[in-house]
Amino acid sequence: MAEELTRRAEDAPDEAAIARAHAVYTPFMLSIYDVLVHGISNHLAWRCPTRRLVGLYRAGLSANHLEVGVGTGFFLDRAGGAQLKRLVLFDINRNCLERAGRRLARFRPSLYEVNLLAPIKLDLAPFASVGLTYVLHCLPGKMSEKLKVVDHLRPLMGKRAVLFGATILGRGIAPNRAARALLDLYNAKGVFNNREDDMASLSDGLRQRFDEVEIEREGCVALFRAA
Ligand SMILES: C[S@@+](CC[C@H](N)C(=O)[O-])C[C@H]1O[C@@H](n2cnc3c(N)ncnc32)[C@H](O)[C@@H]1O
Repeated sequence: MAEELTRRAEDAPDEAAIARAHAVYTPFMLSIYDVLVHGISNHLAWRCPTRRLVGLYRAGLSANHLEVGVGTGFFLDRAGGAQLKRLVLFDINRNCLERAGRRLARFRPSLYEVNLLAPIKLDLAPFASVGLTYVLHCLPGKMSEKLKVVDHLRPLMGKRAVLFGATILGRGIAPNRAARALLDLYNAKGVFNNREDDMASLSDGLRQRFDEVEIEREGCVALFRAA
């Protein structure tokens, strides 16, 4: 019993690791984020064209959407249209919420400061789609712990709701020099925690939670859709 409790405490991501994973998103960093990540890294390092991710949003977005881990709001800005009637944004970082909230003001979003790794105590009507892009690779812990995020989100998902998104993998990929350098740097800084993330652990975790799972890899990136 004592051993089991110690193991659980060791497995649980600590507050400092959670903070390191999002502290990087300062107003200055967010002002260059789109160019750095969606303009350069997706193409040169991760080898997953940004248009593929925008396509995922165009296909998955419903009229009643929850976006978690919003960054700058890039994908909703590109893919959102008049069909988007209700938009809610969750993020642990206020800078991200403020920047994305301003950029997406035309959709009148509601903003909530939420740590996805903790149970979400909000009384909100269910959503028909949930976007979770480039968040899992930031979160500390093994894939089984990261996917607790999905357990926290599921009570907010309607019956036929779709969860879609993408994450950068750290295992079972063939990173080029640029990708290797970025993986080393970001993991050393705790901005990424994806050394052990692979297709199998993501796919198994999603299949345990959803009836329909589609998952594909493009370069270093896993793209998924689950309902
Ligand atoms: C790499 S950015 C991705 C932003 C955006 N989805 C994109 O693809 O451009 C990761 C986002 O997840 C948020 N985040 C990191 N850890 C979080 C946590 N524990 N709970 C909620 N949001 C978190 C960060 O603040 C940031 O907005």
